[in-house]
Amino acid sequence: MLKAVILIGGPQKGTRFRPLSFEVPKPLFPVAGVAMLQHHIEACAKVPNMKEILLIGFYQPNEELNRFLFNAQQEFKISIRYLQEYAALGTGGGIYHFRDQIVSGSPEAFYVLNADVCSAFPLAEMLSFQKEHGEPNSFVILGTTANRKQSMNYGCIVENETTKEVLHYVEKPSTFVSDIINCGIYLFTPEIFQHIGAVFQKNQQDMLLYPYDGEEPTNGWHRAEAIRLEQDIFTALAGQGKLYVYKTLSFWSQIKSAGSAIYASRLYLNQYHTTHPERLATIKEGGA
Ligand code: GTP
Repeated sequence: MLKAVILIGGPQKGTRFRPLSFEVPKPLFPVAGVAMLQHHIEACAKVPNMKEILLIGFYQPNEELNRFLFNAQQEFKISIRYLQEYAALGTGGGIYHFRDQIVSGSPEAFYVLNADVCSAFPLAEMLSFQKEHGEPNSFVILGTTANRKQSMNYGCIVENETTKEVLHYVEKPSTFVSDIINCGIYLFTPEIFQHIGAVFQKNQQDMLLYPYDGEEPTNGWHRAEAIRLEQDIFTALAGQGKLYVYKTLSFWSQIKSAGSAIYASRLYLNQYHTTHPERLATIKEGGA
């Protein structure tokens, strides 16, 4: 069976979305008529064998989020739970902290999705790709191509063109590295926790050797548990025969600013012609 984790961040994240995110938490902001997160949940719920969707973030549980989760569970008939981090633990720290919840029930693999992306979410394709390429326990990053200049704002991936193995991974490089970029959508096996655990242990040792003597920063980056998938895990895994990139030609975009939410709406609206024609307005006499 499979599971999915959606990283939703918290109130200190998504600052470029202000002032819109003062009214509604960013993951619930409507994109193409439904909450940003609903597109992710819908895509996950469609994958055969999907047993559970976990949202990980550092928002205080609130009525809006609870109502959204309740409605989504009813609509998609799947277990959806929110797990709250005690502090911002980064894109790798949160999944590591809640690893027992993720591996309970023994999923053979699980997806991790950034909440702030808009995508056609080719999740089933990533799973078939994982089965065809590399070793059975390999990890897959969804990639897409960007132009040279844009690519440097993202995680950049150098691949082996034949095997699709990730040979190098550089997050937001200062010079051009590759036009293949990380979409923030991954397929992992539980083995990923051994790699995150090794970084956690190294961080703990470093903190013993070089104790931080200032005040604890509120964002929690001086905690051993604060781990970034991109810089701390992928960079080290590249070239080890474990990490592969599945390049998609389908649409993808980040949702960082209010302006990019409009662009994302347009991409989803285009897709609605085939996936959700009922969500589109029909041209009727006297209608809109
Ligand atoms: P920026 O350009 O600096 O925003 O970097 P980025 O595009 O790589 O995004 P970032 O890594 O900050 O966030 C990617 C996704 O992970 C977003 O959906 C965030 O909400 C989420 N995220 C980021 N940090 C955390 C965290 O500490 N905990 C959780 N649970 N989610 C996080």
